[in-house]
Amino acid sequence: MGSKLFKSLLMVLVAFFMVSTHAIGGEVEVLHWWTSGGEAKSVAVLKDLLEKQGHTWKDFAVAGGGGDAAMTVLKSRAVAGNPPTAAQVKGPQIQLWGDEGVLANLDDVARAEKWDALLPKVVADVMKYEGSYVAVPVNVHRINWMWANPEVFRKAGAELPTTWEQFEVAAQKIQKAGFIPVAWGGQPWQEATVFEIIVAAMGGSDFYRKALVEADPEALKSPTMVKALVTMKMIKAYTDKGAPGRDWNLATAMVIKGEAAMQFMGDWAKGEFTAAGKKPGRDYIAMPAPGTSGQFLFNVDSFIMFKQKDAGAQKAQKAMAGLILQPEFQTVFNVNKGSIPVRLGMPRASFDDPALRSMNAFSASAASGDLVPSMAHEMAVFPAVRGAIMDVVTNYYNSDISAQAAASKLASEVEAAK
Ligand code: BGC
Repeated sequence: MGSKLFKSLLMVLVAFFMVSTHAIGGEVEVLHWWTSGGEAKSVAVLKDLLEKQGHTWKDFAVAGGGGDAAMTVLKSRAVAGNPPTAAQVKGPQIQLWGDEGVLANLDDVARAEKWDALLPKVVADVMKYEGSYVAVPVNVHRINWMWANPEVFRKAGAELPTTWEQFEVAAQKIQKAGFIPVAWGGQPWQEATVFEIIVAAMGGSDFYRKALVEADPEALKSPTMVKALVTMKMIKAYTDKGAPGRDWNLATAMVIKGEAAMQFMGDWAKGEFTAAGKKPGRDYIAMPAPGTSGQFLFNVDSFIMFKQKDAGAQKAQKAMAGLILQPEFQTVFNVNKGSIPVRLGMPRASFDDPALRSMNAFSASAASGDLVPSMAHEMAVFPAVRGAIMDVVTNYYNSDISAQAAASKLASEVEAAK
């Protein structure tokens, strides 16, 4: 065969190969806010699995814990008529995107993969718009955790607290010993995270539901709320000057390095300990935040999918949706992320002790009425109400207004936002 003929045959083959790979694979552009060490490791699992199926992952990461920055970017992309293929969106907001008529219907994937049987009904309902799946859940995070450095506690001669009174005693000892008692991230969503933990602790689950799920004005301005606000402000004396604006993962790093004794944060913080090679029980302690041992403030991450014209993108999008509830992904992702699988009946062998305790607490709290949705993490109320609560709480924490005035303001601002 002449070398010219051989070369052109080769080119035809290459061209054919390129067309056919294009035909099997499509591209998904995925908007998310998983940018910390532990988070990036977790999201890479999904990317790799999808790429193994011949699809392309275009990463659209928007830094900023809690996702507020990501949601702003998503809205502007959608308004410009150019949303990504998939986006990390949670809770009641899914309904708002459904109202816009821009979401892809995932019922065929859901039917093939039997999502109705694999998911707790409360979770499945949140993923549906007018009875059809438009989102796929990834995990279950528990919010009400305390992450502690046992070495710092030991050096300070302090006990791990299970009540807020004990917390104060421990924090004073830790401060006297020259450590920062609490690693605080001074951003509105982080302050709202600690606030809701304390509301759950002070008022119990029924009060939490009244105040932060039903947004009932009487509960919002009640003496119990005042007590919760006072307790939240009490912590301030035990934080450091670097707190304002600090990212949550930098706060976790302070506990990992032994500069600070504790952090109150959801279990994505465990992802940071894991990524740093730290072992629970040995290098760090994970326990329920004071006063919340029987409660489970839940936060379920999920992806919504936007309607696509391109057949390849549609295929890639469905492949991504299908992968998320597979046992392999549910295990590897959640082990890295610090969360527990959202898929029911998963084998437990790969999970560490805090994850196992979280799994047990999830079912126990569901049975006792102590499983409540996180307000700070978009599970409980629509964004306008969440925004109003967060504004009041952050202003209160960072100013001199009284707890009483803040509680009244909570009630009035929330009413105005409804
Ligand atoms: C998300 C987590 C994330 C955390 C910090 C939460 O709202 O649900 O997946 O790790 O924010 O960014």
